[in-house]
Amino acid sequence: MSVLTLDDALAAPAQHRVLTGDRPTGALHLGHYLGTLRSRVLLQDAGVRTFLVIADHQVVTDRDTTAGIADNVHEVLLDYLAVGLDGPRTTIFTHSAVAAIGQLMLPFLSLVTDAELRRNPTVKAELAATAGRPMSALLLTYPVHQAADILFAHATLVPVGRDQLPHLELTRTVARRFTRRYGALFDEPAALLSDAPTVLGTDGTKMSKTRGNVVALRDDEDTTAAVIRSAVTDGERHITYEPERRPEVANLLLIAALLLDRAPEVVADEIGAGGAGRLKAVVTEAVNEHLRPVRARRRAFAADPAHVAGVLADGNAVAAGVADATLEQVRAAMGMAYGV
Ligand code: TRP
Repeated sequence: MSVLTLDDALAAPAQHRVLTGDRPTGALHLGHYLGTLRSRVLLQDAGVRTFLVIADHQVVTDRDTTAGIADNVHEVLLDYLAVGLDGPRTTIFTHSAVAAIGQLMLPFLSLVTDAELRRNPTVKAELAATAGRPMSALLLTYPVHQAADILFAHATLVPVGRDQLPHLELTRTVARRFTRRYGALFDEPAALLSDAPTVLGTDGTKMSKTRGNVVALRDDEDTTAAVIRSAVTDGERHITYEPERRPEVANLLLIAALLLDRAPEVVADEIGAGGAGRLKAVVTEAVNEHLRPVRARRRAFAADPAHVAGVLADGNAVAAGVADATLEQVRAAMGMAYGV
């Protein structure tokens, strides 16, 4: 697996084309912000050609309904715009508006085996999380669909969390096998892993809306203060940064440290005997201060739904054009350019 850092990418912005995205299952939160949204903005601002997919077809990999999906797409779009991602610098689109992605999936499916899909660790973990639900064929094959997302755009760099690395490996396999069978068309993209350590929820477990441990970008300052006030800490008064022994306290320190751009040990020293109360006050202030301009922008965009819809419509049109062109290249490479 080829893995680059943000600094590698920023050092040569013209050489890279980025594609990444999110499932629209709800509004984005501080974990997304620190883990990936911040670096996407840096890439965009450095002039890297960037595509962002709001992965609406991935929503039905493991559920039976699309209830609320339009609202969720809108919320994610607002979050993107609020943090400073924008069209036309970044092409923001949904799967459902780019038909060629589905068409690319067909030849790509012929390049992988069912055994390869069945042993994908991310698919296995997602299946396990559905508590006995039979695996849909889309859950099994969505990594190939994700390869189509990445390869239609001829992306060279894919910012992802570690959990997504198996999908990127499969994308590289698809590109390699396509080249071997039909000739060079796709480069093998590299992963861009965030060097920001993973931030957990306020109870020290994975940040997720259902656990109520989330600081959402769209929350107001009082809600954020309440969530952080309810954060789990421990019985020791003196605050120290010890991720192994005191994971919940360390996570709060890490959130403050990442936002204040300081080392978590330094933040811990400053709080010291101030205890959990002071720690929570420091974290609340760091989050609310940092997110104030983001939240203000979000409110402004929320008040202008026509503009927001226009950003998506424009992005969809650009992405569809690029994907259609790639589909033509695939057709030609496979000797199927008849009747056109
Ligand atoms: N599967 C990704 C996630 O759950 C979202 C996604 C869809 C994606 N298509 C992508 C990420 C292409 C990177 C590249 O986070």
